[in-house]
Amino acid sequence: MHKGIFITFEGNDGCGKTTVSRRIYDILKQQGYPVIYTREPGGISIAEQIREIILNPDNTAMDARTEALLYAASRRQHLIEKILPALADGKIVLCDRFIDSSLAYQGVGRGLGIEEVLHMNGFAVEDHMPDATVFLDVSFETGMKRVQLRGNKDRLDNEAKEFHLLVAKGYEEVKRRFADRIYCVDANDALDDVIAHTYETIMEILKRYV
Ligand SMILES: Nc1ncnc2c1ncn2[C@@H]1O[C@H](COP(=O)(O)OP(=O)(O)O)[C@@H](O)[C@H]1O
Ligand SMILES: [Mg+2]
Repeated sequence: MHKGIFITFEGNDGCGKTTVSRRIYDILKQQGYPVIYTREPGGISIAEQIREIILNPDNTAMDARTEALLYAASRRQHLIEKILPALADGKIVLCDRFIDSSLAYQGVGRGLGIEEVLHMNGFAVEDHMPDATVFLDVSFETGMKRVQLRGNKDRLDNEAKEFHLLVAKGYEEVKRRFADRIYCVDANDALDDVIAHTYETIMEILKRYV
C-alpha cells in the first residue's frame, strides 16, 4: 500500500484538464500540501520517446492496438519512474490524464472495447488505479471550440468529429463504470468557477484520507 494519494484529471478535449490541474497544483503547493503535478509521459525519457511515436502526425499507418499498447507502455514507465516513488514518499500526485483516457480514446474512440483496453492496461498498471478522478464535464461543442482556440494540434486532435464524439461516449461509460472514484465537476462555467469547484472537490477527496 502506498502512503500518498493518487488523483487523476479526465474529460474530453478542451474541458480544461491541463489549465485546471496546474492551478490546483499551485494552490495546494501554496497551502503547504506535499503535492506534485504530472502528466503522461511525465518527463520520463523512455515514456517521452514512446509518446513521440504515438503523436507524430506522419504515423498515419498506426494500428489501433499498436496505439493502445504504446500508450500503456508509456504509462507504465511514467508510473514506475515517477508516480509510485512520489506516492511512496507520501505525496498527493495530480496527474493530467491516466488510464481512463485510454478506455475512452482507444476503447471506444478506436472501437477496441473498454473491457479489452482495461484488461491490457491492467498488465501495465497492475493494481495502481487512481484513488480518485476529477472528471471535468464539458459540452461537446464548448470543448471543441476551446481546442480550436488553443491551436497546437497533434495526431489525435486531428481526428474527425466522429472520433471525438465516440470518445465523449466512451467517457460517459467510464463515468458509469467507475462511479465510486469519479467526481464530476461542471466545466462549462467560467474558468474561475471551475477551479473553485474543483478545489472543493479535491478537499472532499483529501478528507477521506485524514
Ligand atoms: N472554463 C473555461 N472557460 C474558458 N476557457 C477555458 C476554460 N477552461 C479552459 N479553457 C481554455 O480552453 C483551452 C483548453 O484548455 P485545456 O486546459 O488545454 O484543456 P484540456 O487539457 O482538457 O484539453 C485553453 O486555451 C484554456 O485556456
Ligand atoms: Mg491538456
